[in-house]
Amino acid sequence: MGNKRKIISVVGARPNFMKVAPISRELGKYPDRYQQLIVHTGQHYDENMSKVFFDQLDIPMPNINLGVGAGKHGEQTGKIMIEFEKICLEEKPDLVLVYGDVNSTIAAALVSVKLGIRVAHVEAGLRSFDRSMPEEINRVLTDAISDYLFTPSPDGDENLIKEGVSKEKIYMVGNIMVDSLLFNKEKAAQLDVLSSLGLSAKKYAVLTLHRPGNVDNEENIKNIFAALEVISERIPIVFPVHPRTEKMMRKFKLNQTKGIKLISPLSYLEFLNLMMNCQFMLTDSGGIQEETTVLDIPCLTLRDTTERPITLSHGTNILVANDTDKIIKEAEKILDGNGKKGKHPDLWDGQTAQRIVEILTK
Ligand code: UD1
Repeated sequence: MGNKRKIISVVGARPNFMKVAPISRELGKYPDRYQQLIVHTGQHYDENMSKVFFDQLDIPMPNINLGVGAGKHGEQTGKIMIEFEKICLEEKPDLVLVYGDVNSTIAAALVSVKLGIRVAHVEAGLRSFDRSMPEEINRVLTDAISDYLFTPSPDGDENLIKEGVSKEKIYMVGNIMVDSLLFNKEKAAQLDVLSSLGLSAKKYAVLTLHRPGNVDNEENIKNIFAALEVISERIPIVFPVHPRTEKMMRKFKLNQTKGIKLISPLSYLEFLNLMMNCQFMLTDSGGIQEETTVLDIPCLTLRDTTERPITLSHGTNILVANDTDKIIKEAEKILDGNGKKGKHPDLWDGQTAQRIVEILTK
């Protein structure tokens, strides 16, 4: 064993899994230097929200699952903290790696830093400047207490510096999710997802929707669905439905909109295939704004802010909020052949995990 360093990666929700995969693969190249453990908080627990990602992305099964499940924010965050503290005391890691902006991220970072364990935040510095989003609170707080801040783009560095973070802690390493995307693109391209859904390439749009600000609010979700109904007269819309959204659609009786094909959440590779082949995306996800920029697919983001402004300035992304008319207008531009074209941001090249591990090694 000698002076091998022990690193714990903490993940919990679906968008964490494609971020830990490349890091775990890279750390795995240096078994004499690093011992890695993966802790799953259990924030997401359905097979199709969690296990299928570990299988497809070849992530080692979590060494530990905290099994916290769903709950109110305080309850979920608190449970993760109680359980993760026990793990830290037992395992005594040299470093804890946290990813993105979910409740599992802040919970694990807060526990670690108070035990004097160094914390690295992968995907640091992103800001929507909208503090009504739970993720924004998670981002601001996690960045304030982390020792290593790995940012995806220059705006991340700028935000951190404005908040008084010292420059020595900030490393622009590129976008970790793009590592997974480029690594898996060929594999995804070989699947046949479209025919079973009765779709042909470039002749459908894909929707994802799960932000509380959109789906928990009756007026907002209805505004979005009003636009979808109009758009779906010109192009079929496929909608893999997030569990939160499914509950709310039932509540607001929105589950029979014509022209929208409702399906269960997809695996990573199936979803990538669906995204690669669509004409455009409609989404309120953070990660999809980035993935569509790398795939050169126009993206209409159903939010009025984004913590990923480089997808607007460089990429294919446009903010349409939950404004019925704006959503329709931008979708029609795409349908008429005038979709937005973009460039790929620097360092979104599939080498981000390698850069992170090099920095940790130094
Ligand atoms: C969380 C993240 C969000 C991320 C999203 C991706 C926070 C604050 N939010 O939101 O940033 O974009 O994950 O999915 O961390 N549920 C299931 N099965 C599951 C997971 C969730 O049924 O496997 C249900 C829960 O019971 C709950 C709802 O979905 O009612 C929401 O789950 P939760 O983890 O609280 O937040 P997300 O909306 O998924």
